[in-house]
Amino acid sequence: MKQFISVHDAGNINALVEKALMYKATPLKDKTLGAGKRIGLLFLNPSLRTRLSTQVAAANLGMEAIVFNVDKEGWALEFEEGAIMSGNTVEHIKDAAPVLGSYFDMLSIRTFPSLKNREDDYSELYISQFIKYCGVPVISLESATLHPLQSLTDVITITENWKLKTQNSKPKIVLTWAPHVKPLPQCVANSFAQWINAWGEADFVITHPEDYELKEEFTNGATITHKQNEALKDADFVYVKNWSTYKDYGKIYENAPEWMLTEEKLAITNNAKVMHCLPVRRNVELSDEVLDSVNSIVTQQAANRVWAAQAVISTLLTSPKGGN
Ligand code: CP
Repeated sequence: MKQFISVHDAGNINALVEKALMYKATPLKDKTLGAGKRIGLLFLNPSLRTRLSTQVAAANLGMEAIVFNVDKEGWALEFEEGAIMSGNTVEHIKDAAPVLGSYFDMLSIRTFPSLKNREDDYSELYISQFIKYCGVPVISLESATLHPLQSLTDVITITENWKLKTQNSKPKIVLTWAPHVKPLPQCVANSFAQWINAWGEADFVITHPEDYELKEEFTNGATITHKQNEALKDADFVYVKNWSTYKDYGKIYENAPEWMLTEEKLAITNNAKVMHCLPVRRNVELSDEVLDSVNSIVTQQAANRVWAAQAVISTLLTSPKGGN
């Protein structure tokens, strides 16, 4: 592993999941692996889980983690090659990234999309420029289009819960669109679809209103339907998430409260476990009754963020330079 930006960097997904579960059972097993090394956590956008779980994961490996809120505390960065910097940006990434790379052994970065221009967002300019110029391994803490640490966590959580049932068959996993009050990125949904398709150990259904299609590159392999109730039938896991439109980019057309997951809808499923990456808008995306029910595994899911981050940092620490 040279970087962790998408599922393509994960190698064997089940091996990474097993590593994470090993750390969950024995958090300090490799407590000196990262001794004398530093990871930089750079945030251009807010975070609770990603920031703290990655810090805890680094500490478990004996690695120092330093957080820098670039959006609030740093110079305004320019990412465009050849830019004439006579506007608001103060420092080019070409200058800042190598400096950061000289301070840290590993960098991790959160950069949300603008949701204004699809081509710009889907080019992943920000994280690509960091990778190009920093000279050390980079972990995505959520980029313009993907959230791989979240998705690894999701596969870990599904594996744990499915194993508990000791079933040999594939679980039915449903990713359902949920209403929201403002347009959100497609990152979590794109990434979840990418990982579940690559994992290949589930019957995977995506359901959303018309016009909320995700990019096919991520959804290929899943069954897609606009009929939520039909999708939920016999589901073992329901992953609830809002995303804004991909085609007519970055919009929400309506609040669509009928898409909120309620107890009534959960009754259609096979007593499904309910997942959400958090933060969640209660009684907009998911009802209180569902979130507070025994079916909800959102806290377990968020807690597993530590083990996903620890597995990834550990793998990067032990990968030969230039290795896979
Ligand atoms: N799920 C997630 O990434 O949470 P934060 O935005 O709080 O990091």
